[in-house]
Parts: sequence; C-alpha cells; structure tokens
Amino acid sequence: MNPSENTVSQTLAALGIAQPDEISSLFAEVRARFDAEIIRAHDEPNWNITKVVWLGRKSGVLAQITDNWLKPATPELKRAVGASLNELRAHVESKIEECRVAIESGSEESALTRERVDLSLPGVVRPIGSHHLIRQVFQDVEDIFVSIGFSVVEGPEIETPYYNFEALNIPEFHPVRDDMDTFYIDLAKGAPTPLLLRTHTSPMQIRTMEKQKPPVRVIVPGKVYRRDNPDATHSFAFHQVEGLAVDTDITFCDFTGTIEYFVKQFFGSGVKTRFRPSYFPFTEPSVEFDVSCIFCGGSGMAASGGICGKCKGAGWIELFGAGMVDPAVYGFVNYDAKKVNGFAFGMGMDRLAMLKYGIDDIQVFFQNDVRFLRQFP
Ligand code: PHE
Repeated sequence: MNPSENTVSQTLAALGIAQPDEISSLFAEVRARFDAEIIRAHDEPNWNITKVVWLGRKSGVLAQITDNWLKPATPELKRAVGASLNELRAHVESKIEECRVAIESGSEESALTRERVDLSLPGVVRPIGSHHLIRQVFQDVEDIFVSIGFSVVEGPEIETPYYNFEALNIPEFHPVRDDMDTFYIDLAKGAPTPLLLRTHTSPMQIRTMEKQKPPVRVIVPGKVYRRDNPDATHSFAFHQVEGLAVDTDITFCDFTGTIEYFVKQFFGSGVKTRFRPSYFPFTEPSVEFDVSCIFCGGSGMAASGGICGKCKGAGWIELFGAGMVDPAVYGFVNYDAKKVNGFAFGMGMDRLAMLKYGIDDIQVFFQNDVRFLRQFP
C-alpha cells in the first residue's frame, strides 16, 4: 500500500509535520490521489463509491482530514490546514458534480442511440388477405341484382317455426318439413316458442313483407343450416340468396326474364336456361331452374369423348328453386292477394360458386386451407 494513502488517518504530529509550509505539499498529494480516482468513476456505481470514499460524513477522506489533521492541529498550523482543506473540499465537490453530469448525459446519449428508429430499414410487409370465395360470389350476385333495382336485406339465423315454416304455408306435419332436417335449439321448459336454425332464407320474405308495403324488391344473402351429413355436395351450414319481388303487375315473364338476366350476367351470355315444374308450399306455380352445363357447354359430352361427369350427360345442371309467390303467403302478411303478385327464388351460393369456378367439393369452403383461398385473391 502506498504509505501516503494512510496519511489522513494519522495526526499531523504523528506524521511529523510541524511547519505551515509543509501543509500544502501534504494536501497536493491527497488531491492528486483524488484526481486519479475520479477519472476511474466513469459509471454510476463507481461514482457512488468514489463519492462515499471522499465525502462520506463519518469516514470519508475529507471527514478524516477534519478529524485527524484540522481538529488536533496546533494553533500555528490550524489556519493553513483550514484553508487547504476548504480548497480541497471545493475541488472534490465540484469534480464529483461534474462527473455526475457527465455520467447522466452519457447514459441519455446511449439510450438515444439504442432507441433510435432506423428509417432506412425495409418495413415488414404483411399479407393483406382477401375475401373468401363465397363472400366474393355474394358480392357478385348482390351487384347484379342491385343494378336492376333490388335492395339487400339480412335477417336472423335463429328463427321461430312461424317464420321458417308456418307463415310460408308449411303447417306442422307438412311433409316438406322432413326434407329440411332442422336443428332445433335446446330451450328451457316453458320457453314461449321453440327456436331453430333457419333452414332457408325464405323467412325473410315474411319479415320483409310484414315491415313493408308493396312494391317489394329485395334479395337476402345469408347462412342457412340443415342436418345433413357432410360430403362433397352437402354441408350442415351453407349459403343462400333469397329473392322476392312483389308488386301490382308482376308477371311470370318478369320472373323468368329476371332470372335469365341474372344467370347470363353471372355465368356469361353463352349459357342457356330452362325451368321445370317443381313444388314449394310458398310458391305457385313452382319451378326448378336449370342452366346449360357450364363444363360441357350443354352437349353432355366430356372433352375426352365420354359422358360429361358434371351433368351426367344431361347437358343441364339444376340451379335453384323459385316460383310465383303463393297467394296463401300474402294472407300471413296482410297483403291483398287479389291486388298483388310476385315471384321468389332461393339460390345456393356454394353451388353457384362450385359451378362457376369448377370446384368439386363443397367442404373446401369451410376448411379454410390457405392453398385453396389463395387461388381466389
Ligand atoms: N327456400 C327454398 C329452399 O331452400 C328455395 C325457394 C325460395 C324456392 C324461394 C322458391 C322460392 O329450398
């Protein structure tokens, strides 16, 4: 250990100092020691240590000088010691403060460099995604009907049997209820009415006419549910667009013309349409609309020479059900069946999408495999 380091713990007498002119060199030595130490105090922990070592109230170097040199000094030395000590204290305090300021601004600077935003870095490009194909087809269908004066309305997926069946002229025990294997909702005993997942969008015919006097021209896109086992053409949830037009002078020609216009807009002007008699309790007459097979152009023959697998050689593909609104339905909504007439149709969106885009499995719409979805950006 440097013997001079110990000087402050001894009295001047013990150090053999008796003359005032020896004092300044003694203090110069201490000051040099401080200067060497403060240079090494370049961060906060070291700065703290240095501060305590020098300015500590009880055993800091300056406190020791006061106790060991100043207090017991002889009257001849006291003045000189007091003056030098004051000078040293001023020096130590100002250097320690200087050092604190330097450390603080240094850490601010390094925090600034750490947090600086580098505007020249390339950004993170996130894929934007796209509408599901079913949503795109909904949009196409809506655009076509809106362009000829229909408006778009939506309705509840949870329905009462009244709207799903009765008001559509399907009384309890009517056999068509069997064709629409229905999901009923478990309700507490005593619930005012049973509830079900709508099996078609037709309940919105009733809800619309209840709210609105003729003329009515609406389409209703939405999800519907039936207790089907999933396979390539069946799903327990699927999508429909309902259409309803009611006015005082709507004819069967308006009906077929509208449907034909839609089909040509949707599939292209080359397709042909036909309708066959069918049955729905809420339309009379009822029809089933077919389009000429989009895959074989209506010939029934595949390009390979065999029978077209899509239309099974028929040249026609069944598209959707429709008809003129049955007058019995008007009775449920307080329309005067003698004054108004109209038509209604219900199309399966999944089926339309499968036909238009050549998709042979309805399940791909629900699996949401991005390899499928990316094909329809
Ligand atoms: N709602 C019928 C169904 O889902 C389709 C339909 C709608 C038929 C409107 C005629 C009129 O099968």
